[in-house]
Amino acid sequence: MADSRDEPLVLGIETSCDETGVGIVRGTTLLADAVASSVDEHARFGGVVPEVASRAHLEAMVPTIDRALKEAGVSARDLDGIAVTAGPGLAGALLVGVSAAKAYAYALGKPLYGVNHLASHICVDQLEHGALPEPTMALLVSGGHSSLLLSTDITSDIRPMGATIDDAAGEAFDKIARVLNLGFPGGPVIDRHAREGDPEAIAFPRGLTGPRDPAYDFSFSGLKTAVARWIEAKRAAGEEVPVRDVAASFQEAVVDVLTRKAVRACKDEGVDHLMIGGGVAANSRLRALAQERCEAAGIRLRVPRPKLCTDNGAMVAALGAEMVARNRAASSWDLPADSSLPVTEPHVPGHHHGHDHVHEVSKENLYS
Ligand code: KG4
Ligand code: ZN
Repeated sequence: MADSRDEPLVLGIETSCDETGVGIVRGTTLLADAVASSVDEHARFGGVVPEVASRAHLEAMVPTIDRALKEAGVSARDLDGIAVTAGPGLAGALLVGVSAAKAYAYALGKPLYGVNHLASHICVDQLEHGALPEPTMALLVSGGHSSLLLSTDITSDIRPMGATIDDAAGEAFDKIARVLNLGFPGGPVIDRHAREGDPEAIAFPRGLTGPRDPAYDFSFSGLKTAVARWIEAKRAAGEEVPVRDVAASFQEAVVDVLTRKAVRACKDEGVDHLMIGGGVAANSRLRALAQERCEAAGIRLRVPRPKLCTDNGAMVAALGAEMVARNRAASSWDLPADSSLPVTEPHVPGHHHGHDHVHEVSKENLYS
């Protein structure tokens, strides 16, 4: 589109986990990214408590939407659509976002777009580096997911190449941080300690890297156990645990496997663009090693800035804007929140397929 004013203005709502995110974009331009986090409320439990998250979303929703509109300097009337994470994620948390999106879309007379959280993590990179090349290989690493995805059209065609068979990468960071008494979430604090440690101090196992192992799947459970045992043995012997070296060696084991498999998938599929998204993409060593290995393999690496890697509303708005730009059908009012929405469904039209922009408005199923 020649004039950026013609690009779709979309508000996106994200509530799949513990961040209430509301973003506003115009095409691939970020206008606002408001986030209210309930992470502090979960910290004492060492993980996200679904009921606490749902309640926090409910309280934060309207103020966060208002804040995003103000930050973007736009009026809700000018929006071309409202996008919302329909899944995957925590069921109760998703429901708060989906209900809010329906209420706003219905009240404002705007089309509603239920989108996939994982596809949004990929699409957000458009806000930083412009249109995503097609195809793009995506390594998605967060507290809930670790997958390799091949995207040929972010709104309709995402092929899963591989995924974790047990823990997500971020989950492993969180668990090891807990064993080391470093608090929650574990990723950022391990990243910090690792900077002063020796990544080769301890040889921790690299899961699923044997010749007969699946090429693109991940496993972090064995690593997690190995690190925990190593720490326990030190403690049992009355020795001090070298926190920085453990953090650096553990982190190296995770990012070595992630980058090795991602680069291999690109090579095997002849794809020359790799994007890395999700909360773990904020990891400084992952970014550095990916850059090094991509350069060596002639692959262009795209990683959004850390704030766009963790859960946020802008990523949902970015995918919503792409849906509008590509004339994808809006979702129906009975759009469900689907906690296990498969990544192969970037866009959720709802139960009544085949609708175009105009909804068949029915108050009965607005909250179903
Ligand atoms: O994408 P995200 O915000 O939420 C999910 O969808 O899960 O990811 C959160 C995860 C947490 O497990 C957190 O420990 C991890 O991302 N994380 C990191 C870093 N920053 C956040 N892991 C490693 N290094 C980091 N710098
Ligand atoms: Zn996420």
